[in-house]
Amino acid sequence: MTGKEILLDAQKNGYAVGAFNVNNMEGIQAIIGAAEELNSPVIIQASQGGLKYAGVEYIAALGKLAANSSKVPVALHLDHGTDFEQVMQCIRNGFSSVMIDGSRFPLDENIAFTKKVVEIAHMVGVTVEAELGKIGGTEDHITVSEKDATFTNPQEAKRFVEETGVDYLAIAVGTAHGVYEGEPKLDFDRIEEIRNIIDIPLVLHGSSGVPEASLKKAISLGVCKINIDTDIRASFARTVKEYLEKNPDQIDPRKILGPATETMKRTIMEKMEIFGSVNRG
Ligand code: G3H
Ligand code: ZN
Repeated sequence: MTGKEILLDAQKNGYAVGAFNVNNMEGIQAIIGAAEELNSPVIIQASQGGLKYAGVEYIAALGKLAANSSKVPVALHLDHGTDFEQVMQCIRNGFSSVMIDGSRFPLDENIAFTKKVVEIAHMVGVTVEAELGKIGGTEDHITVSEKDATFTNPQEAKRFVEETGVDYLAIAVGTAHGVYEGEPKLDFDRIEEIRNIIDIPLVLHGSSGVPEASLKKAISLGVCKINIDTDIRASFARTVKEYLEKNPDQIDPRKILGPATETMKRTIMEKMEIFGSVNRG
């Protein structure tokens, strides 16, 4: 399914869909396993780093297999696409949703850059996410320092959505990519203000480590897509370390990665419960 089809149902019914980052088969199995067990729609997404690691073709083949054999709605999404060619490569390989991240550009350039991708993606039935404002922190090769992070301006968001025709919008409202040092403080008034003047689904990035109550409040104010990467990585790494500490002579990848896949799945299921997407499949 396209991201838009999945997110419009979430928007209509007041819940959010988790968009979980993948780098390999185990990640995809964890996501689909969680979605099926909880009967939840889901978005499998790969960032540029994930695609560089596994290759667009491998991620696309695994993602399409997962989507086609699953009973729940699944979209395959490019996360933080910054390169026009790569966006086109993902579309050619069957991604049903792409993000074009032109947040590094001034407003007019971001509009022109995003619009070009939207026009082409829509011709082949692929839906598009864009970003306005600058989300802080580090995701793969994209780093935005605290001083460069800029919150989304609601009036600019209105113009951006009208002029680009984008399907869902990532907003900068106080979250950041990666591990938080203190507790993140979200600007709920800003989310509400944006929601009141644009009607497409809103996307929250950098959502690992955001307290449950804040996520729920953001959803109640109109956030429909919630991106999670760091919390999945952390559960993967913690389980592999624990397993190898207890079993230092183990050399079988299946024995090492199996428990980590299960832990990633549990982490994803906890998020789906918070997002309210359980039994929406
Ligand atoms: O695009 C992906 C994300 O925004 C994930 O952020 O690693 O902080 O969960 P996170
Ligand atoms: Zn992100």
